[in-house]
Amino acid sequence: MSMDLPEGMKLIDENGRRLDGRKADELRPIRIEAGVLRRADGSAYVEMGKNKILAAVYGPRECHPRHLQDPTRAIVQCHYNMLSFSVDDRKRPGPDRRSVEISKIVGEALEYSIFLEQFPRTSIDVYIAVLQANAGTRCAGLTAASVAVADAGIPMRDLIPACAAGKVADTVVLDLNKEEDNFGDADVPLAYIPRTGEVLLLQMDGHLTQAEFNRAIELAKGGCSQIYAVQQDALRRKYSIAAGENGGKEEEARGNEA
Ligand code: CDP
Repeated sequence: MSMDLPEGMKLIDENGRRLDGRKADELRPIRIEAGVLRRADGSAYVEMGKNKILAAVYGPRECHPRHLQDPTRAIVQCHYNMLSFSVDDRKRPGPDRRSVEISKIVGEALEYSIFLEQFPRTSIDVYIAVLQANAGTRCAGLTAASVAVADAGIPMRDLIPACAAGKVADTVVLDLNKEEDNFGDADVPLAYIPRTGEVLLLQMDGHLTQAEFNRAIELAKGGCSQIYAVQQDALRRKYSIAAGENGGKEEEARGNEA
C-alpha cells in the first residue's frame, strides 16, 4: 500500500481502464470448484485473478488442544497459510503476524455463520492454503473456506462471499490486484451476506474520505453478490454430479483424477 509508482506506470489509463484492462467496478475472473480433495470432509478451490487458493475443512471432530474445548458449542480453528512459492520473493514458511491475523478474522466470520451450538465440545478445523498470491487472498480464502464448510455438510446460516474494494489513482475500484494493492492508496476487504445484509468482515488499510469509503462499500457489496452466485453454482455443480445428473460423465472424470 502506498509504495511509489514506478516511472511510466499508470494505474488507470485515459479510458478509465486498469492495468489488467478492468473497469473500476469489475471483479477479476473468478472460478470456484467444490469438493476437490478426497481426504477432507469438505473442500474448495478458488481462483480469483491470479490468486489460487485451496481450502480444506475437517470436522466437527474432537477438539485439540483439549483446553480449547467448549461444552456449549463447537469452535472454529482456522489456519491461513501462504506457501513459500506463492509470492515473488520466497515466503518464509510458518506462521507470522499476518497469517495469525488473517486466520483470526476469517475464523471469526466462519464462526458467525456456522451453527456452532449444534456440535458442543468439537472443533471445526479449516485450512486455507494460498498456492499463488496476487492480493485479496484473505477474501478469496474466506470465499473458499465457506464453500468448503458447506461441502462438509456443516449447517450454516449462509455462504460467505468476500472481496475488497479500494482506491487507486484517485479512483475507487473493486477487487485490487497486486500492483493496485502495492501502489494504491487504500484497501477495504469486506465479507457481506447479500441475503441478510450482514457484514462479517471489514478492514481498512490506507485512507479514504467518508464518500470514498461509502463508494468502496457499495462496490464491494456488489462484488460479494456476484461471488455469492459463483459459490452457489460451485456447490450445485458438485451435487448435481453426485446425484448422477450430467449423465455421470463429469463424475467419471473426477473419479479418475482423484
Ligand atoms: O492477500 P491480502 O490482500 O488479503 O493481504 P495483504 O496483507 O494486503 O497482502 C497483499 C498481497 O501482498 C498478497 O496477496 C500477496 O500477493 C502479497 N504478499 C507478498 O508478496 N508477500 C508476503 N509476505 C505477504 C503478502
